[in-house]
Amino acid sequence: MSTNKVALVTGANKGIGLEIARRLGRLGFTVLIGARDEGRGRAAAEQLRAEGLDAIPVRLDVTDQATIDAAARRIEAEFGKLDVLVNNAAVFLDRAPPSQLDMATLRQTFDTNFFGVFAVTKALLPLLRKSGAGRVVNMSSGLASLAQNSDPNWGFAQFKVLAYNSSKTALNALTVQFAAELRDTPIKVNAADPGYTATDMNNHQGTRTVEQGATAAVRLATLPADGPTGGYFDENGPVPW
Ligand SMILES: NC(=O)c1ccc[n+]([C@@H]2O[C@H](COP(=O)([O-])OP(=O)(O)OC[C@H]3O[C@@H](n4cnc5c(N)ncnc54)[C@H](OP(=O)(O)O)[C@@H]3O)[C@@H](O)[C@H]2O)c1
Repeated sequence: MSTNKVALVTGANKGIGLEIARRLGRLGFTVLIGARDEGRGRAAAEQLRAEGLDAIPVRLDVTDQATIDAAARRIEAEFGKLDVLVNNAAVFLDRAPPSQLDMATLRQTFDTNFFGVFAVTKALLPLLRKSGAGRVVNMSSGLASLAQNSDPNWGFAQFKVLAYNSSKTALNALTVQFAAELRDTPIKVNAADPGYTATDMNNHQGTRTVEQGATAAVRLATLPADGPTGGYFDENGPVPW
């Protein structure tokens, strides 16, 4: 059994998730590369191992309870605890205005971005409780913010994509609720806004690098005991709800 701290990042085979895994690996974590596709997960873990990091692929489709349960059992058997969970996996499926959105896309988006996070968090909470200092980071977005969405002059005000935005707003609500329940434990639960980052999710139109996009999440994953819980942060500090 490894004596390292153990971190699981969902959707870690590419994009910001892969970079978060890399950064946690460099900090000495054993990083579990959550990936819905076994081959993509293995390739990403091999890439990090070639960089000298302790990276292990774990098959995990956040919409598939059987893979979540199997991952939890495996982490329990191999490590006996989990120190950090980064709920990073997400989809961005809608591009049209709310009136053009179809139900199937809305449901599919919530399946991954909200129900998936709930299912993974619930399954792994017993292992996070076994860590002396469990940290949960939910990858939110500036597009989750009702305050920012309500401001017509906000820089991203034209991104009124109901499925994605509301799934991330719901994720923020989940963050507040879990943090409140766990307030008297060492576990901290926070939401991270990476900023508009160049990845496959936006056909690399984002203006920030994955290195920049990973910063807020890595900070929240490694908060000290007196750090915040139940908050919503980008790399510069709190984001308005
Ligand atoms: N990029 C931005 O500008 C931006 C801005 C704000 C917030 N975010 C958030 O940052 C996080 C990372 O996004 P990204 O830009 O790095 O996106 P990305 O490059 O599209 O990566 C998304 C990751 O999620 C995985 N995934 C999707 N559905 C999954 C499922 N059901 N089970 C497991 N994994 C699944 C993908 O796996 P596959 O490779 O198998 O598809 C991929 O590894 C997301 O939560 C996103 O909402 C991104």
